[in-house]
Amino acid sequence: MEFPTELIEKLKSAKSVLFFTGAGISAESGIDTFRGKGGLWNKMKPQELASFDGFMSNPNLVWEWYQYRRKILKGTGPNPGHLSIAEFEKYIDTVTVVTQNVDNLHFRAGSSHILELHGNIERNYCIDCKTYYGMDDFLDVDEAPKCSKCGGMIRPDVVWFGENLPQNIFAEAEEIAKQSDICFVVGTSAVVYPAAYIPKSAKEGGSYVVEINIEPTEITNSVDCSLTGKSGEILPKLLELFLR
Ligand code: OAD
Ligand code: ZN
Repeated sequence: MEFPTELIEKLKSAKSVLFFTGAGISAESGIDTFRGKGGLWNKMKPQELASFDGFMSNPNLVWEWYQYRRKILKGTGPNPGHLSIAEFEKYIDTVTVVTQNVDNLHFRAGSSHILELHGNIERNYCIDCKTYYGMDDFLDVDEAPKCSKCGGMIRPDVVWFGENLPQNIFAEAEEIAKQSDICFVVGTSAVVYPAAYIPKSAKEGGSYVVEINIEPTEITNSVDCSLTGKSGEILPKLLELFLR
């Protein structure tokens, strides 16, 4: 795989680098993506598993699905893609991760400035009194638990279809995107809005937009540089060229 010299030069002089990530960056950690080959939404219904109405009509099913995903996450960890992103922090003034993932793998890789647009699967909260709970509070609980303070229903702290993104986090992400020198768009199909506005905002703000994906996406034709391959292979290589 060839890396354009322009990209390496820009990376070497960049003051602010943004990594906008999606499910694909965690694929090599053994986490299923949502779309494309083997995607979760090919076999499961988002309105049943990832919407508030779905949760209300079958809380145990939704809870069980999140517990299942949590177990998978406990058994895996960040891959070289996440780790390389965390490593860039040592050499570049500002490195921000804006992620659509809820898997907490950027944090486990050591990234320190992470904006989670869709929440985090390791947290839960009571829909009535908004008390927060960790995932370890319910390790082997297979049925949707109730709040110990008010008896309300406890849900995962993730953004479901039809729900708003955390507005302050999204606004900060947009601002950082506009001001970034380089914006890497890694492992996302870039079809879910408003998250997919991030690369557009970066472009509008004059950032050099680089896509890393195993296949072409909605935005491939509008980026400045497109790198085709696995993020767990491309990012370590990029780090190596940057440090050379
Ligand atoms: P998608 O599943 O839509 O897209 C994953 C992308 O990763 C695809 O474009 C794949 O080609 C690419 N990909 C797969 N393996 C890869 C690898 N090893 N290296 C690089 N790229 C790879 O996931 P997202 O774009 O993250 O929302 O989906 C966006 C949102 O839709 C998710 O946050 C979730 C989902 O419904 C909510 O839960 C709110
Ligand atoms: Zn409560």
